Amino acid sequence: ALVSDRPRDLEGRHVVVSAGGTREPLDPVRFLGNRSSGRQGVALAQAAHARGARVTLVAANVDVPVPAGVDVVHAETGAELRDAVRAAAKDADVVVMAAAVADFRPVTSAESKIKKQPGGAPTVLELVETVDILAELAAERLRPGQVVVGFAAETGDQAGSVLEHGRAKAQRKGADLLVVNAVGGGRGFGTDVNDVTILDGSGAVVGEATGTKIEVAHAVWDAVLSRG
Ligand code: CTP
Ligand code: CA
Repeated sequence: ALVSDRPRDLEGRHVVVSAGGTREPLDPVRFLGNRSSGRQGVALAQAAHARGARVTLVAANVDVPVPAGVDVVHAETGAELRDAVRAAAKDADVVVMAAAVADFRPVTSAESKIKKQPGGAPTVLELVETVDILAELAAERLRPGQVVVGFAAETGDQAGSVLEHGRAKAQRKGADLLVVNAVGGGRGFGTDVNDVTILDGSGAVVGEATGTKIEVAHAVWDAVLSRG
């Protein structure tokens, strides 16, 4: 169906969507980051707004325009994103973690620019694991009955296919839905089309979508609504 044909079936709901990619500082000029553009998260926010939801978009370094009519909170690091998502999630019916959150951050961020030592030994970065925001939201349920949705960008590898990795992740995270997105080979990051399989918390397939990020977004909201 055309986007404009969608019913306002999210009317009266508050949804929180995180989008983009976190940046973890190394020094005042450098960071550890990732290639997420924020397009899929922005499409989720836009689709939810079109379907009548009140939308809070927690945007981490999003490099596309944010939709009109959506409340935007900016976050830079994983810690900032966590605080912003948790604050907004306290009165949210649905939280979707579409942001690519750093799994590790530098133990310290230097106060001044790190200088190279010409001919010196390579610098080793000491990293520490970040909080898994999605798993924490799923475990805590900041509002009773809240639907918690994760995204998983996967490439297959020797250990398993995209779907096998997705299924294991769905079971591990404790979220209600996990949107598994095949990336690599020109798919996913930075492009306008996505190819996703939507799993429930047990890893069972509850939806599939291929198309623009807006079409994928509507399929995600359909899956959320079909949970009741
Ligand atoms: N996520 C999160 N907090 C983190 C890391 C990830 O909330 N510190 C969320 C992402 O926003 C996404 C989901 O968890 O919704 C899955 O992220 P992903 O990177 O695919 O999963 P990981 O558990 O980090 O596993 P890995 O990177 O090893 O594949
Ligand atoms: Ca990760």
